[in-house]
Amino acid sequence: MLDHDQAPPLPKESRGPVNPLLRRKPVEQLVSEGGQGEGGVLRRSLTMWQLTMISVGATLGTGIFVVLGTAAPVAGPAVTISFIIAGLTALFSALSYAELAGSVPVSGSSYSYAYATMGELIAWICGWCLVLEYAVSVAAVAVGWGQYLNEILDGMFGFTIPENLSAPMGEGGFINLPSLVVVLLAMVFLMRGAKESARINTIMVVVKIVTLLLFIGIGILGIKGGNYTPLAPLGIAGISTAASTLFFAYIGFDAASTAGEEAKNPKKDLPRAIMLSLGIVTVLYCLVAFVAVGAMPWQDFEGTEAALAQIMTDVTGHSFWGVVLAAGAVVAIASVVFAVLYGQTRILFAMSRDGLVPKVFAKVDEKTGAPRVNVLIVSLFCGALAAFIPLGELANATSIGTLFAFALVNVAVVILRYTKPDMPRTFKMALFPLTPILGFIACAWMMYSLPMPTWIAFGIWMVVGLVVYFVYGVRRSRLATAEM
Ligand code: ALA
Repeated sequence: MLDHDQAPPLPKESRGPVNPLLRRKPVEQLVSEGGQGEGGVLRRSLTMWQLTMISVGATLGTGIFVVLGTAAPVAGPAVTISFIIAGLTALFSALSYAELAGSVPVSGSSYSYAYATMGELIAWICGWCLVLEYAVSVAAVAVGWGQYLNEILDGMFGFTIPENLSAPMGEGGFINLPSLVVVLLAMVFLMRGAKESARINTIMVVVKIVTLLLFIGIGILGIKGGNYTPLAPLGIAGISTAASTLFFAYIGFDAASTAGEEAKNPKKDLPRAIMLSLGIVTVLYCLVAFVAVGAMPWQDFEGTEAALAQIMTDVTGHSFWGVVLAAGAVVAIASVVFAVLYGQTRILFAMSRDGLVPKVFAKVDEKTGAPRVNVLIVSLFCGALAAFIPLGELANATSIGTLFAFALVNVAVVILRYTKPDMPRTFKMALFPLTPILGFIACAWMMYSLPMPTWIAFGIWMVVGLVVYFVYGVRRSRLATAEM
């Protein structure tokens, strides 16, 4: 187990204002300063089970409850195969994450791995992409949560929250209040520190897993063999397009890697948590998809808003079960907001300690051991984004940003194997270097298959990120100032 000892000074060769492209943070330094914030340290309290639940919490949500409904008409009954393809793509990168999280167990996740292997500029770019994966997706998922809530209110009580209170300006309303509420609720719980947050997260994750198991148990009774033929009515192209859409459902398995500085036994538990969570969600996704397209003709998914709830109602003949499913979905999506928000605060914590974002993000509250100011700022930012801004293409850019960060992790694992061959590794992937090469290719291929407007949004996002870095981070970086 690691403790939060005083970090040793940086080795001489890494100090001083060298070219930011080349400035690398030594792995030993990254590990030894783990947990240290401004005015306090993060507390190590998370077990392997809780870490797994953080990853499942961040992953299992909109993808299965909502996006499955849009992917089924594209792939047909073969949507289960699309889930397997997307899951395999995630698996290659998950293996790289597991190896790096076991060797460099810090809160910065892929940002920190890039800092140790590819230098500060690439690390910054990676961290900036993680903001898309985490902060922007929190806002996007929160918006989806609001819409789902409205559907349930409509189905159960016949009323919806008025449009001017449930949509931002530019989309026919004034403020998206439900989205703001779910983010602020998550903020309140995150303020209590990692231990409390993990408890609440585990409860929500258990609720969503039980909901999906209930769906499988009931939905299976409604399966009609004829619904599976033809298996792939829109061919391989349909299966592959649906797979890129469904990749979104796997985003978040890396969230445990942002808890590296709050884990009790990070080197052993992080790799296990990452692999276990991916296994759990993949099995659930495939079973749910298989049952769903067996119980409802694939064409009927088109235009059905809450398909899983509809199936529950149809199979049982009672709308009560549809409501139970919908309530589970509301908890599920809220838990994604919660776990992803947690991840974003910890990544910014690591970036702040390195001087690339303001110091306030690394301030730790002594009583709770939580970076409370960080939690407050990130939550208000994400809440405002969800409440007032029509996210449009920026939300779609979440996947491209994530894929870019995953691609970098696959590169980082290769570099670290060659630069530090003797470093102790608690988890070593099989078939090296084939696995990370396949991981990189899979990410690049998925990025390539995303539409042009998403690329344009991503391009603009990256330009903004580079401007921020060259205006702020490049001179304030702790490696540049040798402040340590
Ligand atoms: N994977 C997360 C979800 O499906 C983002 O909601």
